[in-house]
Amino acid sequence: ETPALVDRFGRVAQDLRVSLTDRCNLRCEYCMPAEGFDWLPPREVLSDDEVIHLIRVAVQRLGVREVRFTGGEPLLRKGLERIVAATTALRTVDGAVPETSLTTNGLGLDRRAAGLAAAGLRRVNVSLDSLDRQAYATLTRRDRLPDVLAGIDAAEAAGMTPVKINAVLMRGVNDTEAPELLAYALRRGFELRFIEQMPLGPPERWVRGEMITAAQILAALGERFELTPTDAAERGAAPAERFRVAPSGDLPGGSVGIIASVTQPFCGACDRTRLTADGQVRTCLFSRTETDLRGLVRGGADDEQIAAAWRTAMWGKLAGHGIDDPGFLQPQRPMSAIGG
Ligand code: GTP
Ligand code: 5AD
Ligand code: SF4
Repeated sequence: ETPALVDRFGRVAQDLRVSLTDRCNLRCEYCMPAEGFDWLPPREVLSDDEVIHLIRVAVQRLGVREVRFTGGEPLLRKGLERIVAATTALRTVDGAVPETSLTTNGLGLDRRAAGLAAAGLRRVNVSLDSLDRQAYATLTRRDRLPDVLAGIDAAEAAGMTPVKINAVLMRGVNDTEAPELLAYALRRGFELRFIEQMPLGPPERWVRGEMITAAQILAALGERFELTPTDAAERGAAPAERFRVAPSGDLPGGSVGIIASVTQPFCGACDRTRLTADGQVRTCLFSRTETDLRGLVRGGADDEQIAAAWRTAMWGKLAGHGIDDPGFLQPQRPMSAIGG
């Protein structure tokens, strides 16, 4: 068998996104209702050893080169450092150390950044939707902006660079903040990416005609910054389209990204496969089916059986997410359970 996860459109998945928990200590409006969800019962969540087992299969037998840990909030997993260390101890099919990264809201990162870097974690992407304490608290329903900023500082100090910042703009809450967020990122040398809101949270919160689009974000940034598109050939499978930003006033130049999942889908270049906190393979954020690997692991299947099930799952991956198709239905699971 070829050590690769290929689908019938010829895409090869080399990037594994692992959700380590569906829980979170924030309640971002676009992601969760104020009361949270009915969380997965602990027995249904993969143990640290089970997660490590499945990552090992993906890296050693399926050609995965990059592993990103997500959630929910992955810092809520006590075993995160151990899982990272076990991942960086693996070697890919061509003998390299797997690239590792973390997508986090930053809470508690101030205390754990050094330990995560020591475990081999290479990069962090931190969600930061506002620099205004009040707007941050409104959007996330928690008054935790100072903790996030401390977490970002700690990640930088620990050498997990370039730090990337993710921001989702919501009309009437933080949609006027795009230029300020970019100024902060440029000053600090961070890579900021604006993400179009996707239909993955509370259904009533996503209104196609109300969402802030990539075009609107670019127009707002264009009033204060000079942006130049980067070479499209450099993009590869990355969700973000990148723009160079010229220096202006006392600000250095840099770059900014836009993740336009809705208005400019990038599914044709997708190189991702996903594992949920309860051990299901999802071929896509928006897939309507899942493949159970937890049952295989707990039932004592050998690595080749697990790899075969994973390959079969990816072969069934659809061409795209279909957000704009008539009759599109949101996935039954929220983003926090899928792994952003
Ligand atoms: P980098 O390697 O650091 O560029 O990571 P990333 O941008 O892939 O990861 P991150 O977890 O920071 O995700 C940023 C946003 O991109 C999130 O909103 C993700 O849900 C979204 N995203 C990541 N992969 C996909 C994808 O395959 N499809 C869609 N539609 N969105 C994605
Ligand atoms: N649409 C777009 N981005 C979202 N995120 C969470 N929910 C959504 C959504 N419905 C973002 C988080 C985080 C990243 C992983 O995804 O803010 O930065
Ligand atoms: Fe890949 Fe699905 Fe994301 Fe499209 S929406 S880029 S197919 S994971």
